[in-house]
Amino acid sequence: MKLLVIGGAGYIGSATAQLLIEAGHDVVVMDNLTMGHREAVPDGAAFAKADLLDAADTLGVLKKHLPDGVLHFAASSLVGESMKDPGKYFRNNVCGAVNLMEAMRETGTRLIIFSSTAATYGEPKEMPITEHTPTLPTNPYGESKLMIEKILGWYHAIHGIRWVALRYFNACGALEGRGEDHDPETHLIPLLLLTALGKRKQFTVFGDDYPTPDGTCIRDYIHIRDLARAHILALDEKALGAYNLGTTTGNSVKEVLESAKRVIGRPIPHTMGARRPGDPPSLVADHARITRELGWEPECSTLDEIIGSAWAWHSSHPDGYVKKH
Ligand code: UFG
Repeated sequence: MKLLVIGGAGYIGSATAQLLIEAGHDVVVMDNLTMGHREAVPDGAAFAKADLLDAADTLGVLKKHLPDGVLHFAASSLVGESMKDPGKYFRNNVCGAVNLMEAMRETGTRLIIFSSTAATYGEPKEMPITEHTPTLPTNPYGESKLMIEKILGWYHAIHGIRWVALRYFNACGALEGRGEDHDPETHLIPLLLLTALGKRKQFTVFGDDYPTPDGTCIRDYIHIRDLARAHILALDEKALGAYNLGTTTGNSVKEVLESAKRVIGRPIPHTMGARRPGDPPSLVADHARITRELGWEPECSTLDEIIGSAWAWHSSHPDGYVKKH
């Protein structure tokens, strides 16, 4: 298929673009490069620098390439920032998505695969989370993603555009030569590994007084290779609506720290700190729907595989993507 990957210069988008190319698809990456890296766009993909907030530019990219489908990864995605600047999240995420859907409608593009999030659920009490768990976001980031899912549902009902929203749990790990490079970096695994490399002085565990077995937060860590593969399965005509994308295994911050020390064989200076506001104690996916309907199973999402691959990336790219001049 001919596929437009929006946000394909970012961490998850570029990994998916690479796997799509390997699977024989024809890929065009569109990115505004505010967070993404031109160097991360895979060889073999065409590239268009454009911003979803520019409706005319977005329509121009769709008109030029006339893709069979769009994979939409581009978004502002920091929970904490969204609590300080909600307007940025509603504008970038929701307005950007509306511009995209209008451009898809005008060009007759039939499919969108959208990067959604476990943050649409808020802080559910019962684990694991199924797609029937009520969606009650507790921050503008999660709310913006849920609003977009609803918008996609209406474009399907009214204009017949098929939509798939993959609700990611904690994306992590790396492909060869392709990993996390965020500024600022806020995610657990890169922060642990950058501390091991001496790029950060010390790692802080955000709270050890949660109602979990060891007192630290539990998350469902999923390797980006497994995550990216799900997008390829979602191209299937029968995929429709929202699917959880996690492994059904929860790990605590302390378990991730222990696994990192073991896998890389280095100490990681760390300290216990206060809770980070807004962190739910536990978020673990039930992925039965995507397994039943699309045959997806996690294949490389053990903590050791995730951390081993992330370590290969960070230790060979301690400064992330280095600009090509
Ligand atoms: N953590 C620390 N210290 C740090 C950084 C993180 O202890 O320096 C802990 C957090 O408290 C949390 C866990 O590590 O318990 C994971 O934190 P991340 O920031 O890596 O990921 P989050 O679970 O907060 O966020 C992820 C995605 C968001 C999404 C959210 C809910 O990055 O986009 O899951 O789905 F909104």
